Amino acid sequence: MKLDVFTLFPEHFEWFIAQRHVRNVLEAGSELRLIDYRETTPLSAGQVDDTPYGGGAGMVMRVDVVDAALEAAYGSERDGVRIVALTPGGRLFDERLAAELAAEPHLALLSGRYEGLDERVVEHLAEDAVSIGRYVLSGGELPAMVISDAVLRKLPGALGDERSAVEESFSEALEGAPEYPQYTRPVEYRGWGVPDVLASGDHAKVREWRLERSRERARSEQS
Ligand code: 6GU
Repeated sequence: MKLDVFTLFPEHFEWFIAQRHVRNVLEAGSELRLIDYRETTPLSAGQVDDTPYGGGAGMVMRVDVVDAALEAAYGSERDGVRIVALTPGGRLFDERLAAELAAEPHLALLSGRYEGLDERVVEHLAEDAVSIGRYVLSGGELPAMVISDAVLRKLPGALGDERSAVEESFSEALEGAPEYPQYTRPVEYRGWGVPDVLASGDHAKVREWRLERSRERARSEQS
């Protein structure tokens, strides 16, 4: 997969790209590019934003600046690229959307700063607007990292043990439910024990117990 993140703060991603699982995916052949809007802005003095029409606080990322960055990266043919705008009011990001995006050969995430992106970015330049939750963050950088993490860990080579991604929270193997509880040593701590079935060596019973706990968690989430 090719993943391009458009941002005003590429240096904010240094911590993210140093993560083991991210390195693994990149070594396995995927590509991650951080593209700085300022490098291609058509405005003078590196300007990228402007005051909102109609008045109000803060600054809005300009549509011509975003378009120039896309033009420099892809030209005017953008058919092969799934372009996603990151905005607090967009479609809620979840495991299903993560899987959908992980299947794209080429994905672009557009982050905005200040009061956000000019709406014409969403209307004309991006295919989707996506939000990571119903709260406001100061920019799209953290959402871009959240989405990149959830997407990249689904790609080949991300996890040491390929099975780890198959049977985890919200996976098909668990019927879309949260993961079952996990325990490790010590078997007893301050009187708190580990369910007997897990140490029984009976794999069928363990599987049944885990699926039941997972379903239980799904039911309690709904109520
Ligand atoms: Cl994608 N952007 C911002 N600024 N805030 C958010 C968000 C995105 N998703 C949730 N809150």
